[in-house]
Amino acid sequence: MSHNEILENLDNIVKQAICELQKINDHTAIEQWRVKYFGRKGLFADITSAIPHISPELRSETGKKINTAKKQLMQMFEEKLGFLKNKEASDTDVNFTIPGIIPDVPNLHPITLVSREIVGIFQKLGFGIHVGPEIETDFYNFEALNMPENHPARDMWDTFYLDEDRKLLLRTHTSPVQVRVMQKLSPPLRIIAIGKTFRRDAFDASHSPVFHQVEGLMVDKNITFSNLKAVLIFFLRELFGSRVRVRFLPSYFPFTEPSAEISISCVICGGKGCQTCGNAGWLEILGAGMVHPEVFRKSGLDCKNITGFAFGAGIERIAMLKYGIDDIRQFYLNDKRFIQQFG
Ligand code: DAH
Repeated sequence: MSHNEILENLDNIVKQAICELQKINDHTAIEQWRVKYFGRKGLFADITSAIPHISPELRSETGKKINTAKKQLMQMFEEKLGFLKNKEASDTDVNFTIPGIIPDVPNLHPITLVSREIVGIFQKLGFGIHVGPEIETDFYNFEALNMPENHPARDMWDTFYLDEDRKLLLRTHTSPVQVRVMQKLSPPLRIIAIGKTFRRDAFDASHSPVFHQVEGLMVDKNITFSNLKAVLIFFLRELFGSRVRVRFLPSYFPFTEPSAEISISCVICGGKGCQTCGNAGWLEILGAGMVHPEVFRKSGLDCKNITGFAFGAGIERIAMLKYGIDDIRQFYLNDKRFIQQFG
């Protein structure tokens, strides 16, 4: 190539490069452009390699012209690159003015609603909220609750065991949380625990192998059965209305002494007798009692100076009475038409 040919060629390359660069609209194309002109085997490398072949006195001038053209194109390239980056960023910008999509989620599940209501009531009384594991050990579910191995009261709960040695199980009630809390914290204690519990029961209108319980525990100096009555009457009237009557009958649980079974006047018939209350006028709703000294001992507390009460209730049962649901299976069928009716 002669000196003139080089300059003519350079001129064409620059024109073509500018023309192509203007049309470019994305990163792939601009990278291809860069390689075409400035790559190792690109057009500028090509034209530069011709310099040694022209007469020596013209080499420096030709070199300078090529360099100036190169600089000019590089600058245009940088500008275009910046433009593309900005454009990309604004394409992915969130537009906060677009109205949100209303998710196809109906109301909260009735079990969630009732659980939250119960939590709210006990928070008013200063109770803390605790949770425990759904997989429990024999110690927490039975032994620490005053039911040593072979204790006949274990038969009150049909248990799902998880191992051959029957040391691991799905908790049959939320009472083990009492022990876990007393091991961790020292009195005075006021807590509730809500969660799933499991029993080897049939799945029928009034039984489900999985259900929920709320557990309560209050421990301090001089806690008496009167405190138990006051707290539970307050709780049940907040939950079912101030006109509800509450009845305490003697009962038996290995972890409380004395133990009580607590009923409310039927929320359907007001106590006259109906199908829901089996014409009794009363609905059994809670188990409760004064914490057995053995439970304190197993939890590592010195039971000389403290007393306490505990209680437990089924959340599904409460929800069924509150909402007039007659089949516990409804809670577990995931039918949106059912869930949509609450809240
Ligand atoms: N854990 C018992 C059950 O599942 C309910 C219960 C009764 C809990 C008395 C208590 C209690 O804390 O004191 O049947």
